[in-house]
Amino acid sequence: MAPVLSVENFSIGIGGTGITDSVSFSIEPGQIYGIVGESGCGKTITALACLGMLPEPGGNRLQGQILFKGEDIYSVSRERLRQIRGAEISMIFQEPTSALNPLLTVGKQLRELFEFHEFSGNPDTRMDQVLRRVGFSDPERILESYPHQLSGGMLQRVVIALALLLHPSLIIADEPTTALDVTVQAQIMELLVELQKEEGCAVLLITHNIGLIAQYADRVGVMYAGHLIEERDVHSFLNKPYHPYSQGLMAALPDVESRKELHPIAGQVPSPGQYPAGCRFRTRCNQAFEKCDQHVPDFEPEPQQKVRCFLFEETSA
Ligand SMILES: Nc1ncnc2c1ncn2[C@@H]1O[C@H](COP(=O)(O)OP(=O)(O)OP(=O)(O)O)[C@@H](O)[C@H]1O
Ligand code: SF4
Ligand SMILES: [Mg+2]
Repeated sequence: MAPVLSVENFSIGIGGTGITDSVSFSIEPGQIYGIVGESGCGKTITALACLGMLPEPGGNRLQGQILFKGEDIYSVSRERLRQIRGAEISMIFQEPTSALNPLLTVGKQLRELFEFHEFSGNPDTRMDQVLRRVGFSDPERILESYPHQLSGGMLQRVVIALALLLHPSLIIADEPTTALDVTVQAQIMELLVELQKEEGCAVLLITHNIGLIAQYADRVGVMYAGHLIEERDVHSFLNKPYHPYSQGLMAALPDVESRKELHPIAGQVPSPGQYPAGCRFRTRCNQAFEKCDQHVPDFEPEPQQKVRCFLFEETSA
């Protein structure tokens, strides 16, 4: 099946500083693709680049391309890009309040989407249907409400409704539950996954929480200092993470039942502009050897299972 989204060797710079480098991954229709990584590693910038949005001022594409259903996001017309954004690819942000205009009712904001994009059905019926589906038994009241009249969990449900409204092929969810209470977090994630299955759309789930990836994603990309250092199906990743950084992430995952000792990864992520040459993890890796500072590793020890680590050079085809 042709991928919904294909990111190919994509690198982003801001004002002459490399931020992400040669990022490649693709998302199949209906798949949940998780990108996990520490703060500042380039997750949000990569997500926004998928919508043709680079940081202002000074953000630019250094190399590579991003294809949405085969169309190059960086060579389609402005009009086509406008159609894609919000309708065919929609976005859910960490802060529901940042996605909604505080001065407009929920109804006005949902209706605006129908004004800007083509829709073959009846907008009122669709709004009612989606609001009910995200858990509101009284859609009329919600449509008349202003954002400040709703709780954080309710707002994130509204944002999910907004994201689903026009039957997108891809939803980009950037830390969709981080701002919510733990119990609400679980409800919102369950809802998102249930609806994504029903609607058959793909999801790019961005998070710093590897637990969410383990629970919900089909495939995972682990990001570190602007590199995708491991790119695999979640099942094999959880069985045996390849990269020393991924192994560290897993060892740092709290396990409430066994109360196991946590092993956080020592050291700090380098900042953009200070990324070391070769493997970007080498300043923190206790298995580093000579070769690690000379080239950027890129191996495929098993089909469709990629890793940027020289420990896998021998076992790769
Ligand atoms: N508009 C901008 N101008 C300058 N630098 C930026 C801009 N946006 C992002 N950056 C830098 O690019 C790097 C990647 O940022 P990004 O927001 O993608 O990180 P992230 O992985 O999403 O982090 P977090 O988990 O904190 O959201 C960071 O070092 C950040 O400081
Ligand atoms: S390439 Fe070298 S430094 Fe990087 S993770 Fe592998 S062993 Fe460690
Ligand atoms: Mg971010």
